[in-house]
Amino acid sequence: MDWQSDNKPNAVTVQDTFAPILEAWYERHKRNLPWRHTRDPYAIWLSEVILQQTRVAQGLPYYERFLNAYPHVQAMADADERDILRLWQGLGYYSRARNMHRTARQITSERAGKFPETYHELLQLKGIGTYTAAAIASFAFGERVAVVDGNVYRVLARVFGLEDDITTTTAKKTFAGLAQQLIRTATDPATYNQAIMEFGAIQCTPVAPDCLLCPVHAHCVAFQTGRQHLLPVKSKKAPVRERYFNYIVLTRQHPEHGLQLAMRERTGRDVWQNLYDFYLIETDEPKESWQTLSLPENLSLMLPISAPKAGPVKLVQLLSHQRIKGTFYQVMVPYAGSDTLPDGFSWLTAAGAEQVPKPVLITNYLQNQLG
Ligand code: ADE
Repeated sequence: MDWQSDNKPNAVTVQDTFAPILEAWYERHKRNLPWRHTRDPYAIWLSEVILQQTRVAQGLPYYERFLNAYPHVQAMADADERDILRLWQGLGYYSRARNMHRTARQITSERAGKFPETYHELLQLKGIGTYTAAAIASFAFGERVAVVDGNVYRVLARVFGLEDDITTTTAKKTFAGLAQQLIRTATDPATYNQAIMEFGAIQCTPVAPDCLLCPVHAHCVAFQTGRQHLLPVKSKKAPVRERYFNYIVLTRQHPEHGLQLAMRERTGRDVWQNLYDFYLIETDEPKESWQTLSLPENLSLMLPISAPKAGPVKLVQLLSHQRIKGTFYQVMVPYAGSDTLPDGFSWLTAAGAEQVPKPVLITNYLQNQLG
């Protein structure tokens, strides 16, 4: 039976025709994106890692830059982590870039640079989870395995009226099971997987989905019951933690190299691992002025520090669970007597500071100050 002419929701029929309908929709509406013209598992992997982090429009230039710099997995494996982080700059969540690099090295060292060709083998790789394994297996190798990402949760929750909280393990299993069932009737698993994600991205959008022009609205439980805005059900995220980063930007005028800044690579388990920033005093509350910020004695002992000339620069960076409020005090230290810096710090020229990988907050500050 053609369920498009049947107004009564019928789960069995919907499940049988859902995939081909989305595939047909996709052929008419798909965006022309570079990773859709390749079957190279490396390029597909790269695109998926980037797209897990950002939207298509922002991800495109990153994809092109990475592929230019590292055209194959061996090239990425050979790269310096620093260069990877630098190219990743602006996408945030740097552990994703580090994991990607580690995976490239694993594929090179353990598999002579050849990607595994099945979902189950792909899953054996350290940095590759179920979503990425399904994307690579289907897009590169045509395997009939369903991708489940945020778009897929939304589309399935709405069309099939699933009320389970998608942050729970049981719901994840339910959705994955349904997704796998739906892909069985797809004409082409790769096309279907692209289609359902594209459908979620441009038709069944989080806010104001385009239900009137939707090819499955007659059988969409959410549309039929006016519950689009309530689905998928997702319990609230952990509240955002506010942090106050007071940066003492130590600068000096080098007689030959011009302006220099004291920077260090961040280590430890906190945010921005392996990225460079300035001397940091974190406080529990905002500090409104230089006077209320008590400078550690050892810093004053090491360097002839005087008060900053201008008022502080304030910038904010929002991470997934933290809001970092940066207050930057630029302090000029006389060149003579500036040769001892706190542990881990060194003087970088403006060009050197440009070169090292940095959090967006620091990049924005430097752009603000150095132009
Ligand atoms: N988001 C995640 N994967 C995608 C893909 N392959 N195309 C478009 N958007 C995506």
